[in-house]
Amino acid sequence: MKISIRRLSIKDLRALKIFYTRSACSYYISDMSFANYLMLSQYVVMAAINVNGVILGYIICLVVIDEADVVYLCVDDKHRCCGIATQIFKYFINSVSDLKRVHLEVNVDNVRAINFYKRNEFKIIRIRKAYSNSNNFYEMVMCKTPNAD
Ligand SMILES: CC(C)(COP(=O)(O)OP(=O)(O)OC[C@H]1O[C@@H](n2cnc3c(N)ncnc32)[C@H](O)[C@@H]1OP(=O)(O)O)[C@@H](O)C(=O)NCCC(=O)NCCS
Repeated sequence: MKISIRRLSIKDLRALKIFYTRSACSYYISDMSFANYLMLSQYVVMAAINVNGVILGYIICLVVIDEADVVYLCVDDKHRCCGIATQIFKYFINSVSDLKRVHLEVNVDNVRAINFYKRNEFKIIRIRKAYSNSNNFYEMVMCKTPNAD
């Protein structure tokens, strides 16, 4: 399947909301938050888009100097296991100049995502206890090596 990956802007808000609603993501993102992620320069939102202009997956990251935090990464459930998240993630780390370290938190039950991040060189550094009765989170970190693709 032919896809392209690019950074999104506020012009893509509607397409991103359509994807978010259709993909029934468990992680709640308000309209206001989406608009902020797309407009504030410290956030990078990138998406994989098919030939019809439909978003198939996206990543939102907060970038501060040479470090990034993955806010969310999601691929449409009908298009998973095709390498789309891998392509989006690689595109992201290669497009942020001087990026040294990427950090994220993932629910300990989210085995699919944990395996995905491990395959992309993240390591679990600690468990963060949940505030309420919900699940704990793993904190994971990836240190980008010079010239890594
Ligand atoms: C985690 C998530 C983003 C992964 O997206 P994805 O596009 O399916 O990821 P990839 O296709 O790059 O890799 C997933 C699997 O497909 C396999 N794969 C990749 N390309 C492939 C190909 N061309 N043919 C066959 N298999 C392939 C990978 O080896 C991997 O296998 P594994 O998980 O059994 O080790 C996706 O499952 C998702 O959106 N989950 C819900 C949201 C979520 O939990 N996000 C993370 C919290 S921040």
